[in-house]
Amino acid sequence: MANGLDDVVAADTVLSDVDGVGGHLTIRGHSLMELAGRRRYAQVVRLLFDGFFDDPPSDAELEKAIGKARVEVFDRVQPMLAQLAPLDIYSGMRAGMAVLPDGDSLADALRLIAAPAVLTPALLQLGRGETPVVPDEKADHAGDMLRMLSGAASPALAKALDSYLVTVCDHGLNASTFATRVVASTQAGLTSAILAGLGALKGPLHGGAPGPVIEMLDAIEASGDATAWLRKEIAHGERIMGFGHRIYRVRDPRADALKAVVRQLGSRSETGSRLAFAETVEQAALEVLRIAKPQRSIQTNVEFYTALLLEAVGFPKEAFSNVFAAGRVAGWIAHAREQQATGRLIRPQSRYVGPVPDLVA
Ligand code: COA
Repeated sequence: MANGLDDVVAADTVLSDVDGVGGHLTIRGHSLMELAGRRRYAQVVRLLFDGFFDDPPSDAELEKAIGKARVEVFDRVQPMLAQLAPLDIYSGMRAGMAVLPDGDSLADALRLIAAPAVLTPALLQLGRGETPVVPDEKADHAGDMLRMLSGAASPALAKALDSYLVTVCDHGLNASTFATRVVASTQAGLTSAILAGLGALKGPLHGGAPGPVIEMLDAIEASGDATAWLRKEIAHGERIMGFGHRIYRVRDPRADALKAVVRQLGSRSETGSRLAFAETVEQAALEVLRIAKPQRSIQTNVEFYTALLLEAVGFPKEAFSNVFAAGRVAGWIAHAREQQATGRLIRPQSRYVGPVPDLVA
């Protein structure tokens, strides 16, 4: 039975490769470690988009174009923000993105890149009873996102957020990228395809895990005994958030990339002590999982240190999946364009296992 499509290859891609045995992530010929913290998000967007749009801009031009797109998206969604604000913040973002034009041009793509970065701070501010801050088209993407969130962005926090966006920009044929490619294969526009990705990312088995990681850390801190807390969860059949992966049988390389970023921020005492505590929880969880599930290698995944990083740069846990989408949207768009270019509809088959109709004699 093709339960979960394990080991099924459903696309050829030049975009990224996940080596689950070696623990490597390759993005357009570069290892993750070459990109995270070394290339800015706009540069990585350009890398992913290369060959998928006519007249590709330079890195500097693309950064400016993303800035302009932030302002354009803000102007477009501002009249509806008050109606979106009562929704949960992920649904509010998704609804705001649904009104963007559904074309296939670079301008359409850049509006989709800009939208999560604009909508997330705006909806958070409205939720706090504040007036949303207008984007600054001249600022860098991550820095402007933080400025819109809290009025100011220290270069260190902006760099940390930028590294995060790069780290999660693409990751093979994960559930949301597959969903995006299925819709793109019908030759629907980019907004339709990205809305499918957004739907898939929301669930706790995919992009919804980092918020619950914070809840877990807080609950363990309150309990005072990580191992006992974790054992109890496993005994109740619960999953430990931030651990396990369909492809990786070793540690997710993105976990280390993000941990290094959090460590750099750790000189701020609050982040440093949170990191030290998280490391003890991580060790306890790995040990509990090793004993409870000896048949399976369950290791730390990207979401564990995502939670710490996004908390450190100032996002509340309910917005973590939005920020994940702000990074992953670049990969979704590139995959959508790559799928559209094949001209091939994705249409697998199901095997009927239901009752058969009575045959009329
Ligand atoms: N905690 C506890 N048990 C876990 C686990 C976790 N985080 N991840 C996997 N397992 C266990 C399952 O319970 C199952 O045990 P069983 O054979 O005794 O029933 C076994 O490992 C295999 O699980 P399966 O669901 O087939 O693995 P998968 O490859 O589909 O799992 C995830 C991938 C991501 C869905 C899974 O690891 C998970 O739910 N993780 C927690 C959520 C999370 O962090 N998501 C973010 C992913 S980047």
